[in-house]
Amino acid sequence: MKVGSARATPRSDDVLIVYLTRTGNTKAVAEIIREEVGDTMVSVEPETPYPKNYEEIVSQVARENGRGYVPPLKTKIENIGEYDAVFLGFPTWDMQLPPPMRSFLHEHDLSGTTVIPFNTNGGYGVGSSFRMVDEMCSESDVLDGFSTRGGLERDGIYLAIEGERRKEVHDSVTTWLERIEIGAVVE
Ligand SMILES: Cc1cc2nc3c(=O)[nH]c(=O)nc-3n(C[C@H](O)[C@H](O)[C@H](O)COP(=O)(O)O)c2cc1C
Repeated sequence: MKVGSARATPRSDDVLIVYLTRTGNTKAVAEIIREEVGDTMVSVEPETPYPKNYEEIVSQVARENGRGYVPPLKTKIENIGEYDAVFLGFPTWDMQLPPPMRSFLHEHDLSGTTVIPFNTNGGYGVGSSFRMVDEMCSESDVLDGFSTRGGLERDGIYLAIEGERRKEVHDSVTTWLERIEIGAVVE
């Protein structure tokens, strides 16, 4: 896919959707994007799973962010350079890009690729996460990201992007994709 004013619609097999999820909200948005533009979805999995307990994961993530730790991943995409566009989805954690996504960007060379971030959060926004993607993908064409409210595990709200809310998010995703000129798959 060429970028710039004459950006062409990528074919579904040129598009990769990579996402990190814990309670399914970011995965729900990834699935909506797949319905609109592409086929291949890959979930980012750390080698050592994060604690199930919310308080424990919050303190682990704060510790990891404090020392810039990048956790080893199970996920490795050998042929990532073959994709024209890579959607990168993640929740806001600690008002930042989650450590496993930092690992992913450390371990995968996206230079020359169009990178399209998307995010779900508990209502406090993307924090520094989109900025971090920009910084870590300085050799990529990073398009305007999409962000929406997902769950709020702290208050016992897990998967929120379902039912009517999923339809709303679907509409917002479609509008965003039109704005960034990533169109529906044309067979
Ligand atoms: C460790 C951790 C930290 C979080 N920190 C934030 C935060 O700083 N700001 C925010 O709005 N939401 C925060 N959240 C809430 C998630 O961003 C929100 O629930 C998101 O929709 C979860 O996505 P998922 O269902 O794909 O895992 C945090 C959740 C976890 C587990």
